[in-house]
Amino acid sequence: MTTNKEQTLLRFATTGSVDDGKSTLIGRLLYETKTIFEDQYAAIEKTSRKKGMVEVDLALLLDGLSAEREQGITIDVAHRYFETANRKFIITDSPGHEQYTRNMITGASTADCAIILIDARNGVLTQSKRHGFLVSLLRIPHLVVAVNKMDLMDYSEDVYNEIVEQYTEFSEKLDIHDIVFIPVSALKGDNVVEKSGNMPWYEGASLLHYLETVHVSADRNLVDFRFPVQYVIRPHQNFRGFSGKIVSGTLIPGEEIVVLPSGKTTRVQSIVTYDGDLTEAFAPQSVVLTLEDEIDVSRGDMIVRKNNLPQVGTNFEGMICWMDDVPMSINKPYLLQHTTRMVKAFVSRIIYKVDVNNLHRHQTETLSLNDIGRVEIQATSPIFCDPYKINRGTGCFIMIDPVTHHTVAAGMIRGLSQTINDIIPKDETILSKQNKSPHTVWRNWNIDRQEREAIHHHKAAVLWLTGLSGAGKSTIAMALEKKLFKLGCQTMLLDGDQLRHGLCADLGFSEKDREENIRRASQVARLFFESGHLVICTFISPFAQDRADARSLITEGRFFEIHVSCDLNVCKRRDPNGLYKKAMRGEIENFTGVSSPYEAPDNPEITLNTDLQSVEDSVAIIIDMLKKREIIKR
Ligand code: ADX
Repeated sequence: MTTNKEQTLLRFATTGSVDDGKSTLIGRLLYETKTIFEDQYAAIEKTSRKKGMVEVDLALLLDGLSAEREQGITIDVAHRYFETANRKFIITDSPGHEQYTRNMITGASTADCAIILIDARNGVLTQSKRHGFLVSLLRIPHLVVAVNKMDLMDYSEDVYNEIVEQYTEFSEKLDIHDIVFIPVSALKGDNVVEKSGNMPWYEGASLLHYLETVHVSADRNLVDFRFPVQYVIRPHQNFRGFSGKIVSGTLIPGEEIVVLPSGKTTRVQSIVTYDGDLTEAFAPQSVVLTLEDEIDVSRGDMIVRKNNLPQVGTNFEGMICWMDDVPMSINKPYLLQHTTRMVKAFVSRIIYKVDVNNLHRHQTETLSLNDIGRVEIQATSPIFCDPYKINRGTGCFIMIDPVTHHTVAAGMIRGLSQTINDIIPKDETILSKQNKSPHTVWRNWNIDRQEREAIHHHKAAVLWLTGLSGAGKSTIAMALEKKLFKLGCQTMLLDGDQLRHGLCADLGFSEKDREENIRRASQVARLFFESGHLVICTFISPFAQDRADARSLITEGRFFEIHVSCDLNVCKRRDPNGLYKKAMRGEIENFTGVSSPYEAPDNPEITLNTDLQSVEDSVAIIIDMLKKREIIKR
């Protein structure tokens, strides 16, 4: 069972050089939370005295291992783990003299919080900026800037304020949402665990108090279920399970899943742990899954939910930080480790390199140690991933030199150039819900959507407008299409009333007929989508399941559900074709809102309130979203 304390586990990364006092700070946290033993403390106390120090040098706990080795004591701080009455903590990078950037990157994709140490005597250095940039790039949700060695600056409020001002000015250019500053002295213990009497002007909390109370569960991705398979477990003939760590999302037994890359589907039979079966599992739990059907699953495969697929492909764009002394070579084969999967890959292009001091971009031929740049990568077999900004677990990767085995780079995926539709055999996943004609084999698209998109100068997407009759779907859709057309976009408007003349003329308005109506409509939408269009769909589509099925046909991130919401009474008053009146007189069966239900979307990308917003406002909101999602150009 997961205790409350485990649920509020906090992983944090500390950055700063040894001189900034990083090791002392960690040492103090370990010491004051009683994580180290008396004899360990006695040993470093003795070493400190021998060195003629007045204070006990807590950094020795981490840095000065040789001192302890002399005395035959091995201090196990390898996992740097401690706990208080309220929370457990894992420090995710390694202390000591190693390269800071490298440490930070490797630990940080799971970190909830980063602590950047700034030496009060030196103020804001390039390195402090580099680390801030990385916190933003790695999307670590919370940042603490600990202004250390305040004791050496007479606990001066002015010194502290100046650093806060300088760093705030820099961090405003970055994408950091939560940043706090704390003046500390790691050596003397001021504001580390207890609030210090030496800085009465500081009104905030101590560092430990902040770490104990910062709210982190909301930062985790609990939507997209991703389960990279670590091991196949087969203790005997009657048991076959797949173990791994849930990187994101939640899962319950009975749920329909797809195994990537085979595309085979089945259901989850049970979720097994040491403490018995679970009725629900969620990230970041480690579990064993058993499946209803015997299908082939191997290490490196990924289990996901059927209606929520990751991107799958071989070519992608990402930000990488180069971490090897030997600079990067274009087109040289490296190994790419992504979740539990290892594939061969090479960097095909460097788009630019970032100067962390001023955030300017430069053209470059290579990336050297600590350089950060945007690159294109080509893998030799597909990976299953999400953009890092949506999913840190499936959006990060490292690159390894196949000869030296050095980790040469850590990176974040921005997005794939290819999509799942190009890789997975469609008749097995995407099309599995619908029937196909017997003895037919899927034939892939003749011209790649990507090629069409390049010519159209915008990406393809499906904008699915759902809402009551009279809510304004068609009015908004027509204005939107005109606007997009003027912008030079390839568009297609699919409207319920239109499709029901012809393609769907044989269908009525029963639940089953509506399901079939939406199925046909979404198949048509998909064809236009694959040919690079912005497809605007206006269907009442009253049932959530039908809309989810429509979404599942379209590449992740390209389907936008837009709830055209309007009070039923307003719709009745508008009644453009007099249908509500007829329905209320009982002349039309199954009329949505009168004699048939409407299930409003739980989680639409956009909700428009047409009883309050004008048509122009609604169109502007949609256009704005398309720009933000980089579907159309700004
Ligand atoms: S859906 O429910 O299957 O998505 P769709 O959007 O295609 O419906 O068609 C809705 C249009 O059909 C409405 O705009 C309305 O003009 C017309 N219509 C005729 N009968 C009904 C009904 N019983 N319920 C809703 N709309 C109806």
